[in-house]
Amino acid sequence: MYVETYERAWMWLAGGLIAVFLGVIVVTAANGAIAPPSHMETVDPANLSTHPEFGSPTVKTNADGSVVVTVVASMFSFTPDPIEVPADTPITFRLTSSDVIHGFEVVGTNANAMAIPGYVSQFTVTFKKSGDYVIACNEYCGVMHHTMVGKLTVKPVSR
Ligand code: CUA
Repeated sequence: MYVETYERAWMWLAGGLIAVFLGVIVVTAANGAIAPPSHMETVDPANLSTHPEFGSPTVKTNADGSVVVTVVASMFSFTPDPIEVPADTPITFRLTSSDVIHGFEVVGTNANAMAIPGYVSQFTVTFKKSGDYVIACNEYCGVMHHTMVGKLTVKPVSR
């Protein structure tokens, strides 16, 4: 089949662009800028109150200094609230919901995930700047959705 030189050039150009775009996705994902928040862990949303971890959501510090924050989102608040964590420390958030889909966005950072009933969303972030942050629910969850906010306090650490 005869293909015009011009047409051939445009085909290679379009193909090259697709390769560049896919490459950008792979590079940013590999550098930790984007990651799937869920890791396919399930939890029974009807029995969260008796769950060993989600029954008493709290902030835990591991022996190596890393911090795990367990959060339950429900209409129309987050538990625990406020959340207090150290700066310059890897903080692993583990979220779920007891009712409907909520959002969990630490405003002004790239900490942002959905809290889905039946699933555990997990991601790890390090907050460089200490201070108070607003946690906003960014998924419409009911009539009082706009009031669903929490507070995250990042404390400076002395080393
Ligand atoms: Cu919870 Cu909107």
